[in-house]
Amino acid sequence: MNFPKLIANWKMNGSSKLVKEWLEEAQDKIPKDYQTKCLFCPPVCYISDASKLISRTDSDLLLGAQDIDAHSSKSLTGGISGSMLSDLGCTFVIIGHSERRINFKEKEIIIEKLKSALSSNINVIYCVGEDSSEKESGNTTKKIIDQLSVLKGLNPKNLMIAYEPIWAIGTGNNASSEYIRDVHSVIKNELENLLSSNTDIPIAYGGSIDTSNVETIVKTQYVDGLLIGGASLKAAEFSEIAKISLNF
Ligand code: PGA
Repeated sequence: MNFPKLIANWKMNGSSKLVKEWLEEAQDKIPKDYQTKCLFCPPVCYISDASKLISRTDSDLLLGAQDIDAHSSKSLTGGISGSMLSDLGCTFVIIGHSERRINFKEKEIIIEKLKSALSSNINVIYCVGEDSSEKESGNTTKKIIDQLSVLKGLNPKNLMIAYEPIWAIGTGNNASSEYIRDVHSVIKNELENLLSSNTDIPIAYGGSIDTSNVETIVKTQYVDGLLIGGASLKAAEFSEIAKISLNF
């Protein structure tokens, strides 16, 4: 599987105009052979526009969704299934982001969403991360292991993990290289225990990545990718991050 190295998570930002401008600029500024390593995740209402623009401009950027419904077919007003996302050209979906866990109280439903995505052949970026009180009380490992436990029994081939400490998201306070390396190493070991497979599951880091810290983070041991929120909204900044990270 071709996993992305950079993931642009737009969250609830943007407009049709901004999506168009962003894609045109990113297509122009990100080297062609690196575009296949960059995943664009706009709000769901812009995925169709983005998909058409990506094909029209002959771009190689990957397209992903920020959420998926847990059911594949049901009378479910407002639901969006994996096959619908696939139909629009999405090959990845983000599941378990802390903003959904907190604001939408997502917990038990996460396993259903994982199954729904994998059964529709959509690759999953599964997010885990501790909050500041868990970090301060020395419970980071416990929290991460608990969040990873839902992966037991799933097919690891289509999985990527994103480690996003909640205290680092949108705060300008990214985790240090040593801290990221240690947590990613815990994740790696736990995935081997859980999935008893030789598949090397990529692990991305996310939380206040920008042009000033990307080089240090991307060079960190066990970092296979980057999940970028705020700094992905401007194509110029995201393209600069891409140019820095493609050397590593
Ligand atoms: P941030 O967000 O880069 O703005 O910290 C990352 C994320 O939540 O995906």
